Amino acid sequence: MRLKILTFAPNMETVVSGIRSTGNLHLGNYYGAIQNFVKMQNEYKCYFFIADLHSLTTHPTPANLHGNVKQVLVEYLAAGIDPEKATIYVQSDVPEVTELYLYLNMNAYMGELERATSFKDKVRANPDNVNAGLLTYPVLMAADIIIHKATKVPVGKDQEQHLEMARTFGNRFNRLYNNDYFPEPFAFSFGESLVKIPGLDGKGKMGKSEGEGNAIFLSDTPEAIRKKVMRAVTDAGPTQDNQAKPQEIQNLFDLMKVVSTPDTLEHFDNLYNTCAIRYGDLKKQLAEDMIIATAPIREKIADIANDAPYLRQVARYGAAKARESAQKTIREVREIIGFRNF
Ligand code: TRP
Repeated sequence: MRLKILTFAPNMETVVSGIRSTGNLHLGNYYGAIQNFVKMQNEYKCYFFIADLHSLTTHPTPANLHGNVKQVLVEYLAAGIDPEKATIYVQSDVPEVTELYLYLNMNAYMGELERATSFKDKVRANPDNVNAGLLTYPVLMAADIIIHKATKVPVGKDQEQHLEMARTFGNRFNRLYNNDYFPEPFAFSFGESLVKIPGLDGKGKMGKSEGEGNAIFLSDTPEAIRKKVMRAVTDAGPTQDNQAKPQEIQNLFDLMKVVSTPDTLEHFDNLYNTCAIRYGDLKKQLAEDMIIATAPIREKIADIANDAPYLRQVARYGAAKARESAQKTIREVREIIGFRNF
């Protein structure tokens, strides 16, 4: 396949988003983020990257690191991100990002970094691995975004604070050097508000760190999907007509809302409201609808994963486009900071 060269209208707004390469993508990544990316690529100048530098905070082995990057790249493509429309790249292929990260670190303060919610959560979860990379994670994320002077960042609610920090670091740079070089980036959702995809453990959102069985991966086989859904947490069933749904049941209905038809949803809602529901039936239906919804992606994953020349071409082309944009920024930033040639 030949990739054609893109040209953008000069006033097109820039979108940047990344997903950390820490394992397979799940339905939460797809419906919460990637589906949005696919729509945006037609209307904005989009940079979608694989955040492999961010994944180093948890010290992956070299083999795991590469495998995880490949997995996200394959799944981005299988889900419909088009390398001829959006710029798809691997973060570590663009060293300019780490250079900007270093500059931004000079104006990022201990106190504010320690106060970030995600940092505090990580410290609590892994008190033995409180490394400096974790502390400065929001600075690297700011560099990711402002290196392309992006103004729109499609991310979930849990990233709001990081985005606020990105605005702070960009603004601080501007103030320090008395200019308005970096524009402010804001969280962005295309169309309606972002859907939140719950997990199968009866608690919060779908995530890979919440334990095996909580997340349905895009690469899961139909058999694996059935198994996980059948094991999803439920309660003893409704005892009164029209009673409110407890969270674990609401979660299953929320998932159904995403993958099933409105008729199916209504059917099970009525059964629930008349205390006639059998959760086993609901789960069977939900699993089949998930299998159908993910089939086109699942089928492409295997093909793309086996096409090494295509993956190489996509990664090289994306890196070249991303570096062109990043190098322009770094050239200008160096000038602003005062680095001069002799
Ligand atoms: N922190 C984001 C997450 O965990 C991933 C990320 C890294 C990102 N850099 C970014 C998202 C830049 C958007 C823009 O989901």
